[in-house]
Amino acid sequence: MTDTLSSWGGWSPAIRDDPFGHFAEARARCPVQRARLADGHPAWVVLGYDAARRALGDSRLSKDMLAALQEAGDVVAEGLPGPEFSRHMLNVDPPDHTRLRRLVSRAFVPGRIAALEPAIRAIASGLLDELDAAGPGATVDLIEGYAYPLPFGVIGELLGIPARDRPRLHAWFQVLLTGWAGDPPAEAVEASDGIVAYLGELVDAKRRNPADDLVSVLVAAEGDALTTQELLSSLFQLVVAGHDTTASLIGNGVVALLDHPGQLQALLADPGQLPAAIDELIRFTAPVPHATFRMTTEPVTLDGVRIPAHEQVLVCLGSANRDPGRFPAPDVLDIGRDDGPNLGFGHGSHYCLGAPLARLEAKVAFEALLGRHPGLRLAGGRDALAWAHGDGLVLRGLVSLPVVLGPDLRHG
Ligand code: HEM
Repeated sequence: MTDTLSSWGGWSPAIRDDPFGHFAEARARCPVQRARLADGHPAWVVLGYDAARRALGDSRLSKDMLAALQEAGDVVAEGLPGPEFSRHMLNVDPPDHTRLRRLVSRAFVPGRIAALEPAIRAIASGLLDELDAAGPGATVDLIEGYAYPLPFGVIGELLGIPARDRPRLHAWFQVLLTGWAGDPPAEAVEASDGIVAYLGELVDAKRRNPADDLVSVLVAAEGDALTTQELLSSLFQLVVAGHDTTASLIGNGVVALLDHPGQLQALLADPGQLPAAIDELIRFTAPVPHATFRMTTEPVTLDGVRIPAHEQVLVCLGSANRDPGRFPAPDVLDIGRDDGPNLGFGHGSHYCLGAPLARLEAKVAFEALLGRHPGLRLAGGRDALAWAHGDGLVLRGLVSLPVVLGPDLRHG
């Protein structure tokens, strides 16, 4: 029998780097469709805004993929660092989800996030000082020197990871998040072992000497409300969710603004527009193009399409956020857009817990960068941009963004 399913993910570089035309064609064909993933598994891809929002809010779509796949008799692929690090809130349903999310939320209360602002500013300013040391006409890599280390430093502050340990931890995560096809290469296994050992030592240290940080908050809950496996999984997930995503937003956002000089000028003329601009940059550039996988526990009908039980569902946020039925002129970047919220941070009970922190980090990152270097430009044009090599599902971001910063204009 011939397989008539269209494929989803594992795209050519041209589509992966700029997937929006591909999303639009697929959405126009059918906003909810069955497709084949790059790993050969079938999945229902949800592309329209209404169906996407409904799917994300539907409790019949389970996030406990491990249990759901096992129930469906499917083989569970083991990633790194292994299943013992996968018991975190993004992989479970209520009541475990409610319990884990409530515990971690203690670190994300508005006062605690706002209190991080001076530290975020200091990190941004220190990184820009380092880049400026290359001289105003030099080409620097904004991803390596700014977009990545900034959120990594912030998640380090939040968790209580000593500054001296961050570079090696960061290097390990970089290896792990680069992705690979087939069996993991030796350096990925090494990076994974390094992270597992490091997080174990960090937890031990906080058990002995608790401090005012998230690891200590979670260690205090260990035993009664949280197993050690859940504690380590949560830390791992927070580091992953907390830095690559925001780094992609900063990198993609800079490129989008440089591609749209009128929008950049409007923002420079009125920096008060920055918070709204950040949400528009998330909508327009899709740093997280798809939500994580879900599995139907019973038949679910979305947009008139019946999805049977035990099927994988993949919600394409990048498509939903450019649905013309929801956002007029969706392919136009408009920092003054007043169309209400988009789905870039998800929706429903798994709505991004770090959204307020990500928005604050992005605000500080753009303020500091554009305040100093309003004339920054791409060095080498668009061809010099290097997009990440993943499967195009989880993240859409750059691994390299060469720019010339130009003179420091902070003091007129
Ligand atoms: C621009 C930056 C970010 C984007 C676009 C983003 C996007 C998302 C999305 C789409 C989800 C939902 C996934 C799903 O339903 O399958 C999510 C969940 C989550 N994000 Fe973020 N995120 C960002 C930054 C952060 C940061 C900075 C943190 C923490 C420091 C964070 C922590 C989390 C957590 C803990 C969850 C799981 C929530 C739950 O399962 O209840 N995120 N994020």
